[in-house]
Amino acid sequence: MKIIGTGRANPAKIVTNAMLEEFLDTSDEWIRERTGMTERHVISSEKLEDLATEAALKAIENAGVTPADIDYIICSNVVNEYITPGLSCIIQGAIGAKCACVDVNAACSGFIYALDMADDRIKSGKAKTILVVAAEEPTRMVDWKDRSICVLFGDGAGAAVVTEGDALIGSRLTTVSKTECLHYVRTLEPTPYITKEEEAKPMYMNGREVFKTAVLSSSRDIRTLLDEAGLQPADIKYYILHQANMRIIEAICGQLKLDMSHFPTNVAHYGNTSSASVAILLDELNRDGKLQKGDKLVLSAFGAGFTTGACIIEWTK
Ligand code: COA
Repeated sequence: MKIIGTGRANPAKIVTNAMLEEFLDTSDEWIRERTGMTERHVISSEKLEDLATEAALKAIENAGVTPADIDYIICSNVVNEYITPGLSCIIQGAIGAKCACVDVNAACSGFIYALDMADDRIKSGKAKTILVVAAEEPTRMVDWKDRSICVLFGDGAGAAVVTEGDALIGSRLTTVSKTECLHYVRTLEPTPYITKEEEAKPMYMNGREVFKTAVLSSSRDIRTLLDEAGLQPADIKYYILHQANMRIIEAICGQLKLDMSHFPTNVAHYGNTSSASVAILLDELNRDGKLQKGDKLVLSAFGAGFTTGACIIEWTK
């Protein structure tokens, strides 16, 4: 496959660190030092499916195709207001496409899992032009009274249109079941027969454990992919990493012995937007004219599961 268009959409409401200081025992200084974040976009009146649709339409326009050309939609999503149907089905109706749709939940790695699935589907000859959307509202999963977690997240959607091509140089997906580290549990509707105990709780995260695992697994994925492709770290123009935390990105940069010029970031302005983060950053680079034909890019993300996804792509647009 190759990427031929990208798009993004973010909620209008911007919540600064100073605004968080108003109701949490926190400080701008603590948040900036520990995370690199200064503000984040947070859903207020918007619906996630509308942001997803806006990102999708922008990607379709950027690709120079029409919704009628899309013959498969994959949406990466962890939560939204609908349990069913999948967000991909809602996007399909909103953009006026007519094709099969599926949602994937691989937490923050979801956009890369979805790209990998799109490549498989194109290789199998079952689809030619695929819309991949990552739309997330993690601010709806956290306890807004818990300073250790609610400051970290933002909401948004990113999208890419992919079609036949040879631009995926390599990809690597891993999953290690480690649910105790990061999870969010909800209760379902009661029935007359339920006897087991169930409890709805906001997202739980062991921040330090996630930090360590993220740095080690992402660096390992990248090194493995570079070795397999016979590339050196400096051959990659940009490492487009999951924007979870500036210190995680700096640590991965250090592991690869590169300088930060290879690591574009936007975590300062968006916070952690889960699987949308890599897609949003890719779109920013594309629209800012920072990507040239022939550039090699690494996409790498990690998240609950514990899942990781990484790939090397050549920019062909
Ligand atoms: N403001 C002020 N103080 C805060 C705070 C906040 N928002 N959140 C936590 N603290 C306090 C803690 O209570 C603790 O205080 P104590 O020493 O008096 O007990 C202190 O800061 C240190 O907390 P700790 O959790 O050890 O901080 P940390 O340096 O590990 O940073 C994270 C916390 C969450 C920023 C960091 O662990 C992290 O980035 N983890 C990865 C998270 C991530 O990427 N998740 C997404 C995965 S997809």
